[in-house]
Amino acid sequence: MAEDIKKGLLGIVVDETEVSKVMPEINSLTYRGYAAQDLCAKCKFEEVAYLILNGELPSEKQLKNFEKVERKERNLSKTLLESIKNFPKKSHPMDVARTAVSIMGLEDKETKDNSSEANLRKVMRIFAKTPVALAAFYRIRKGKKIIKPKSSLSFSENFFYMCFGKVPEKEIVKAFDVSLILYAEHSFNVSTFTARTITSSLSDIHGAITGAIASLKGPLHGGANEEVMHMMNKIKKPENALNWINNALDQKAVVMGFGHRVYKSGDSRVPTMREYFSKVAKVKKDKKFEKIYDIVEKVMIERKNIHPNVDYPTGPTYHLMGFDTDFFTPIFVISRITGWSAHILEQHAANKLIRPLASYKGSGYRKVVPLNQR
Ligand code: SDX
Repeated sequence: MAEDIKKGLLGIVVDETEVSKVMPEINSLTYRGYAAQDLCAKCKFEEVAYLILNGELPSEKQLKNFEKVERKERNLSKTLLESIKNFPKKSHPMDVARTAVSIMGLEDKETKDNSSEANLRKVMRIFAKTPVALAAFYRIRKGKKIIKPKSSLSFSENFFYMCFGKVPEKEIVKAFDVSLILYAEHSFNVSTFTARTITSSLSDIHGAITGAIASLKGPLHGGANEEVMHMMNKIKKPENALNWINNALDQKAVVMGFGHRVYKSGDSRVPTMREYFSKVAKVKKDKKFEKIYDIVEKVMIERKNIHPNVDYPTGPTYHLMGFDTDFFTPIFVISRITGWSAHILEQHAANKLIRPLASYKGSGYRKVVPLNQR
């Protein structure tokens, strides 16, 4: 009897979660019951990070303490800093992020302790240090002096400060904060499921997050925001967009930033991110990418009925903010560490080793012929 194979686990429910859900009744992604766009309007990223990790929005006091811990943990060890200085300058920043988290795992005194208290402490160290490690590499590969983190700055402000030496206009910081909120969590996506699979053998959180970063790098997942920018740079000008996208579709190309396994009539995060993309374009007085964005989107919907996903608006927005293209997915990482960690904690709380079956299609039984007779 042929097994009913669901390649890519398409449509298969493998576990329960309380972290997030796309609620069809409001066509919104919700974190612990709160709509993501509502959180974008009323909260800053640290509040949402706390919510995803702890299950409730923080009080003023709880937020103050959360920020205090995050800012205290921003410093990198000498070993980690020296290692970053010796990474090949041409390393992809996603590989830098993956390797930096691995080194943090080598050094963390609580690596062996998988209790939720110890894991939460380790999460705060990974959450606080990964942006600092990335910003250090950003400066080093440009031959610039490393800028130490500033504990008076918020998570978003501090990332700009460490990369560029200054905090930009508040509209730019708010748009960045919104992108981190929208990127923070999305249920059993491939990188989160990778983290849960690694955790299911009771391995450690540094290993689970290292694996998740490796998975997120792929262009079919988080790496798409970088590919969107490569596409826009190839298109160059709005007047080229119509021909470019029609040719791409004529050649059956996969257009990055479009389509989604779960959302089939549009990613609920896109309208919010699109609005902030516009705000950033206005501040930067550069509408070119918005024009390209709209032309490509229109053709994708008209010809294929395929809608943008969150990586489509974030790509050009990060470009306008001044980030190098290969730093777009690492920004996704510094946000999604919160979602991955919440799922790692949840996996530990009700663990079952993840071990699916395969339908064997190989050779039937046969005897080994010794080498001298082969
Ligand atoms: C993220 O899962 C998550 O939640 C992920 C994420 C998160 O927050 O964690 O939301 C973040 O990863 C968003 C997705 C970013 N990836 C991209 O933008 C890459 C481009 N997108 C495609 O590769 C694709 O849409 C996927 C991989 C995202 C989803 O694909 P599925 O569900 O596996 O569906 P499929 O590839 O089988 O496509 C179904 C049909 C195919 O046509 P046919 O072969 O049936 O004729 O739709 C076509 C595909 O060719 N199609 C596309 C397309 N996406 C789907 N055709 C052109 N361009 C596209 N982008």
